[in-house]
Amino acid sequence: MSRKLWLPYAQMSTAPELLSVTGAQGAHFELADGRRLVDGISSWWSVIHGYAHPSINAAAKDQIDQFAHVMMCGLGNDPAQSLAEALVELTPDPLQHVFFSDSGSTGVEVAMKMAVQYWFNQGQPKSRFMAFRGAYHGDTTACMSVGDPDEGMHSRFRGLAPEQVFAPMPASCADCGGDCAHLGEVESLLKAHADELAAVIIEPLVQCAGGFKMHSPAFLRRLRTLTDTYGVLLIFDEVATGFGRTGTMFALDQTGICPDLLVLGKGLTCGYSAHAATMASRTVYDGFAGTDGARAFMHGPTFMGNALACRIALAGLELFKNEDRLGQVARIENQLRTGLSNLAIEGVVGTRVKGAIGVIEVDDPARLAGAQAYAMERGVWVRPFERFLYTMPPYIIAPADMDRVVDAMRGWCETDTFAFSRSEARSNVGAGAAPSGATGLG
Ligand SMILES: Cc1ncc(COP(=O)(O)O)c(C=O)c1O
Repeated sequence: MSRKLWLPYAQMSTAPELLSVTGAQGAHFELADGRRLVDGISSWWSVIHGYAHPSINAAAKDQIDQFAHVMMCGLGNDPAQSLAEALVELTPDPLQHVFFSDSGSTGVEVAMKMAVQYWFNQGQPKSRFMAFRGAYHGDTTACMSVGDPDEGMHSRFRGLAPEQVFAPMPASCADCGGDCAHLGEVESLLKAHADELAAVIIEPLVQCAGGFKMHSPAFLRRLRTLTDTYGVLLIFDEVATGFGRTGTMFALDQTGICPDLLVLGKGLTCGYSAHAATMASRTVYDGFAGTDGARAFMHGPTFMGNALACRIALAGLELFKNEDRLGQVARIENQLRTGLSNLAIEGVVGTRVKGAIGVIEVDDPARLAGAQAYAMERGVWVRPFERFLYTMPPYIIAPADMDRVVDAMRGWCETDTFAFSRSEARSNVGAGAAPSGATGLG
């Protein structure tokens, strides 16, 4: 049957019908058939303050009654101006400038274009990027090019997405002192390609859609030193890690360093609307200065600085001050650490927790085939992908609901179905080396 609505990452011939949502409040949503589920993944990690938060709703309604949008060419709007100022205030001093765009992917594209044009403006054209294996930075063309070259979408789009340089990413180096073998290889690659690399791009602390691999602040500090040494810009993609997800407002807050470009999305607009911010350091911004219009940054999406999105984002930032969001993330982290500990079950490769991110990694995707239905029977919405059964809940989730999510994740791993589900391809896949989920979040 032909279907009008084309779904993401889905084989449309076999994809099940969507479950229609009729209402949502706090950490829960309701389905048309009357079921009420606690959202364990905050709608692809964006609904950080929960659904229909009264103060965000009020801000959005008020802004709609004034105006929702004006173009950002010749015309300005207070919410966009105030949001730019608020983001500068929240981030380290070198990041002084904010360029808005319409999604995490476009925010990453903007950062990549800024890096390329920055070097062009200096008379040193460089247009390649170094990224990390396992990475996922979005679905548009330049973003795809910095996603994992083997496990991501590259093979289908060869010839469209440019070929980049990829460095190894440790599976987990939470205790790395910054002197590991991976960094040796990173340095060799940087040295070899410094003349052509505009920037290195990385998701700081946690490679989320790339398989929830975690690395240490020391790894990032060393990376900052290396990029400075070899004259390459550093981009932090905090589309997923930003706004409290790793325990601090931004993952960079745990590192003591600052990138040249920072990309924010998802939680920025609290799951209410699409928007992203690309923040640039003084040095990058100054690289575009002058009287020559040709040095100006060449990008300008229709909806950049959308007043409604910016007003929503401002209301969301207020909630970090008024409702102790980071305290809630710390509580969630504790619950996850306790709840996911001691999971010594055959087929479970390991568990990882960072802030409001909790992950069970298994050895074979086939083991997770029934996990979503199992969780739904227990009133929980999770959506495993590849070998990962994970939660990234709204920060306002009640402790009892968080327990339900963790119990559903754990409980599934304790079922006979989990124990006996193995795919035929399993024999070809080593437990630690199985493919990551760098094909998006589907
Ligand atoms: C780290 C990261 N960067 C970029 C993106 C792309 O964001 P969007 O889906 O809003 O385009 C994602 C989406 O999951 C992401 O996780």
